[in-house]
Amino acid sequence: MKSSKPAIQIVADVEAISRKAAEVIMGLMAETLNTKTHFSIALSGGSTPKSLFTLLADDVSLRTQVDWDKVHFFWGDERHVPPDHPDSNFRMANEVMLSKVEVPAENIHRVRAEEQDASKAAEEYEDELRTFFNLKPGELPRFDCVLLGMGPDGHTASLFPGTEALREQKRLVVSNWVEKFRTHRITLTAPAINNADCIIFLVSGEEKAEVLREVLEGEKNTELFPSQLIKPSHGKLLWLVAQSATTKLTVGK
Ligand code: 6PG
Repeated sequence: MKSSKPAIQIVADVEAISRKAAEVIMGLMAETLNTKTHFSIALSGGSTPKSLFTLLADDVSLRTQVDWDKVHFFWGDERHVPPDHPDSNFRMANEVMLSKVEVPAENIHRVRAEEQDASKAAEEYEDELRTFFNLKPGELPRFDCVLLGMGPDGHTASLFPGTEALREQKRLVVSNWVEKFRTHRITLTAPAINNADCIIFLVSGEEKAEVLREVLEGEKNTELFPSQLIKPSHGKLLWLVAQSATTKLTVGK
């Protein structure tokens, strides 16, 4: 897939984002599985993606369309907590989707964030990616799809404003200290995300309207608005945005 300008689709609400995202993912899966034996997807944390995961598992017509044994699940970022912790992104996806469908355990590639040393957890996850994608030194993984949310501060995955991970060019996964939460997060780096075949942002909420304008229409300032780092090198970028987050945009008006 060639890289192109980001497509921005404005829909009514979170429910509509989930429906549209499910439709796009189904299409990508079908296309990918025509030529490949598996479909790799990196999941995001956050409330907007949660609604999509719930839909994929609970809607019978969607659930039965998915070849779950051919889908490999990864995470774009993880909080530095054990997998049963309320803040765990793995726990969220597992609770609302993965535990409800017939996905083989070996297809679930979670970040082992119970590891005390967050940088070790990041290194282990990078190794897992290198093995799964069969990467030579210097190569990047090519996810079939990366799902991303965006926070009201412009962060995506765990690429937070002003943090060290924003400047990482070599690593695929890093541990990133986030001062405002006084914790490490484990996150894919921008180069690893940008090598994906398709990247989908799921964004809703009026508290994100101002930052969405900055990210999409403002001056480039990736230190302040890390979501601006997301530019697929040779893939597609789709923004699925709920009306509530678009009030400050000039597009679509
Ligand atoms: C996380 C994320 C993060 C999230 C955004 C949006 O672990 O918190 O992966 O990047 O996607 O903060 O979250 P909401 O959809 O809940 O606003």
